Amino acid sequence: MEPCIVVVGGGRVGTYLACKMRQARARVLLKGSGRKKGKASYALQGYVDTLCEDAGVEQISSFETLRNQEVDFVFIATKTYDISGVQEELKENCVRPKVVVLIHNGIIKDPFDCPTVRVVVPQGYDFVETPGKGCGVKILVKNEDKPWIMPNTEAARKVEALLSKCNMPSCAHPHFSYLMIRKFFINGVANLLSIVADTNCNGLLQNHRKTMDNLYDEIYKVLQKPHADAFKLMPDNFYSIVFEGLASYSEHHPSSWHDFKAGSQIEIESLNGYVKQLANDQGMQVPETDALLCKLQEMLKQRGRELESTC
Ligand SMILES: NC(=O)c1ccc[n+]([C@@H]2O[C@H](COP(=O)([O-])OP(=O)(O)OC[C@H]3O[C@@H](n4cnc5c(N)ncnc54)[C@H](OP(=O)(O)O)[C@@H]3O)[C@@H](O)[C@H]2O)c1
Repeated sequence: MEPCIVVVGGGRVGTYLACKMRQARARVLLKGSGRKKGKASYALQGYVDTLCEDAGVEQISSFETLRNQEVDFVFIATKTYDISGVQEELKENCVRPKVVVLIHNGIIKDPFDCPTVRVVVPQGYDFVETPGKGCGVKILVKNEDKPWIMPNTEAARKVEALLSKCNMPSCAHPHFSYLMIRKFFINGVANLLSIVADTNCNGLLQNHRKTMDNLYDEIYKVLQKPHADAFKLMPDNFYSIVFEGLASYSEHHPSSWHDFKAGSQIEIESLNGYVKQLANDQGMQVPETDALLCKLQEMLKQRGRELESTC
């Protein structure tokens, strides 16, 4: 029987993944939020519909069709603040994933009690129109050749085998804890700052290096103890690795920047909000992180007022 794969979250990452998963000769369902779309998301939904139709991906808006069923893989590609809601929906519908795969930036507490694989994704994804070519839209992937990184567990090795059938490079890696923290540093110095500075990765590196250095130092100080296992694996040139990693995204705007521009909620708690939380827990001061979060909150309030006045 063909495997059943559900991808939850019909955004940039989820749509890309669901379309690629069709290469595994599997039944692939892309589950959307079922929420009514505003003007900006309505256009995005058109891209998702076109790509899914082209690839043969079934779209669903609730788990009702899978009620009481076992599913081979459930990939969750929603924002971190929506993950616990997905877990509740799965529970309500008695859907039993054999393996859950979590694809997100930042760090959260994993709410699942079945085998769960956290993936570190080095790519950046954007929808782009391709008039007159293919189905007229594609997902542009930055760093497509870099592998998805997972912990070296039995469940992750199953995910690795599945992804390889879809020509997606991945690796169940013994140094996962370090590689996750490395990505956290890259996101931590860039994602929320790209909103406040209104620029892409190149712009950040050229014009905001001092702020990024301060954020780097604070992340380093605060994560050192709670993530001691990862810090043990850190090479001496870790600082260069973080900033060279960021430079590889060049003109790409971090996903947080896209979310801000689209009027969407921003992942804060799992990124620099996590740094603030750990700083509080350990009684540490993080002034650059505080300034970043404070400026961002102001901008979100201002954006809220602007969105309200155009309704
Ligand atoms: N985009 C990138 O370049 C990139 C790269 C690496 C990692 N990431 C991480 O990957 C994750 C997904 O990012 P993304 O850019 O794909 O986000 P996105 O474009 O905002 O897509 C997330 C999707 O999840 C949907 N959703 C929310 N709650 C849901 C639910 N209960 N059931 C089904 N769908 C639900 C949202 O629907 P609504 O719009 O209706 O809320 C939205 O379509 C994030 O953690 C992000 O930080 C992104």
